[in-house]
Amino acid sequence: MSRIGVIGTGHIAAPMVRLLARKGHRIAVTRRSETVSAELVRGRAATALDAQSVLDASEIVFLCLRPHQAEGGLRPLNFRAGHRIISVMAGIGRDRLQDLCRPARDFTRIIPLGFLEQGGCPLAVLGDTALLESLFSPENPVVNVTSESALNAHFAICALVPGLLDLLATGAGWLAAHTGDAAGAEFYTTQLASGFLAAMPKDRAGRLAGERDALATPGTLSLQMTDTLRAQGAHDALRCALDAIGKRLEPT
Ligand SMILES: NC(=O)c1ccc[n+]([C@@H]2O[C@H](COP(=O)([O-])OP(=O)(O)OC[C@H]3O[C@@H](n4cnc5c(N)ncnc54)[C@H](OP(=O)(O)O)[C@@H]3O)[C@@H](O)[C@H]2O)c1
Repeated sequence: MSRIGVIGTGHIAAPMVRLLARKGHRIAVTRRSETVSAELVRGRAATALDAQSVLDASEIVFLCLRPHQAEGGLRPLNFRAGHRIISVMAGIGRDRLQDLCRPARDFTRIIPLGFLEQGGCPLAVLGDTALLESLFSPENPVVNVTSESALNAHFAICALVPGLLDLLATGAGWLAAHTGDAAGAEFYTTQLASGFLAAMPKDRAGRLAGERDALATPGTLSLQMTDTLRAQGAHDALRCALDAIGKRLEPT
């Protein structure tokens, strides 16, 4: 059991705290946002303290502020050299963390997503992979990344999720317009995608294209779909969005 502190108790902190509490860790969170921290306290997942008291009570510290809040939220605090810091903040690299959290030296950056609470979330980690495995595995597979630019690329690809949700919503809406059953259409479309991906082996590169090609053979409806999406520029649009998001994450 570890003594864990969380600075910034918002959307991404809450599911991480609930999972870590279920695993028996002792957790202190900052009071802001009061609605989120009060819910965690009510559920006996954490105690809520001011930020300095959170640091003083913890050996492992999660930084879960929004990037623009990091300077104002972290600079005034007194960190210890022995703190093990885990930052979820996009676009704030190791040098900046070191500057904000002196004299701490042990920094790991991760990309959690809210569904890690239910398990099955790939957790990209730059830094202390063993520590993150001890906290979040086996429920969530840890994916070791070896550079800040690789971590940023993983941040960018996470934006694929809302992009895919948007496409699925369009597909489900199209189906509902033909069936008159919005709930049924959304269930069918969602289950189609999640069930297919869950059943697909993910052990090596090339599986996605392999599964696509097994479906999209000459004369099929599947090939008509993949050909049309390509011809209409869907793939160019995706690459363009990923490049633009990647640029936003580069240090300025
Ligand atoms: N959301 C995700 O799915 C996700 C995924 C991966 C990484 N991240 C990263 O996680 C970080 C947080 O994102 P989020 O979506 O969880 O944002 P969020 O919901 O806005 O959470 C940030 C929290 O920090 C609090 N806060 C602000 N200034 C503070 C201070 N000085 N001291 C203590 N608490 C303070 C905010 O309180 P108030 O509400 O009172 O301002 C809010 O509760 C971001 O850096 C993001 O890049 C998020």
